[in-house]
Amino acid sequence: MTTARGVDARGVHSPGRAAVGSGTLRADRWWLAPAATTAGLLAFLVYGGVRAFQQQYFFADERYLTPFYSPCVSLGCASEPGAAHFGMFLPDSPLIPYAALSLPFLLGFRLTCYYYRKAYYRSIWLSPPACAVPEPHATYTGETRFPLVLQNVHRYFFYVALLVSLINTYDAVVAFRHPTDGFVVGVGNLVLLVNVALLWCYTVSCHSCRHVMGGRLTHFSKHPVRYRLWTWVSALNTRHMLFAWVTLGTLVLTDLYVALVAAGTITDLRLVG
Ligand code: FES
Repeated sequence: MTTARGVDARGVHSPGRAAVGSGTLRADRWWLAPAATTAGLLAFLVYGGVRAFQQQYFFADERYLTPFYSPCVSLGCASEPGAAHFGMFLPDSPLIPYAALSLPFLLGFRLTCYYYRKAYYRSIWLSPPACAVPEPHATYTGETRFPLVLQNVHRYFFYVALLVSLINTYDAVVAFRHPTDGFVVGVGNLVLLVNVALLWCYTVSCHSCRHVMGGRLTHFSKHPVRYRLWTWVSALNTRHMLFAWVTLGTLVLTDLYVALVAAGTITDLRLVG
């Protein structure tokens, strides 16, 4: 169906909607936020993709394992004795990341995250790109149909993300032990610790976690412990978007730090030991 002007008469051009001649009446730089969001997400995906398949410079000073290679479960991890804490059983292939056990789930966790969904629906799918800016799509079905109905699996990705956060925590703790020098503290330890702390903030502030803590309760007064946990998670949840972006940054910086130390480009400063 088209209008008299030959425009598709669905979506914002439906009968009954105000006939606005131009694309939008907004005169400000409304496109800045979606453009920045797209650039940030793509930059992370490109960096993460390159690093995940590089299969080099992932273990430094015999104790720092980058989160992009954790858990290191490929037979290729044998090139760095000490990097594989959970066994090596995946085939060593340039097409299989060393952390192929966790990366697909972490990607799924972020892709189905309520915040990231909002971010890429608006910035990449342009649905809509900004307030008072019409979307280019004629119809809207939300997340009621395939494939978007699959976004509901987020709650299951959450449980796997919890496990991976535990593994990252283990990595950060065992990094204090050097195979020959014993207990040591370097700048890399602080980098790993800050990264894992923020990863926990992102994971625990998840909307699914909030539901697990206090969802479906009719009487909070009968579940004081769950209520208390729910209030804590709710407080963190208000900053979920912040943690979503900050952890993309800390993941990249942590990986970069480990890669640069592993490559010998920079030296890890020892603070203790
Ligand atoms: Fe963002 Fe669950 S809602 S990680």
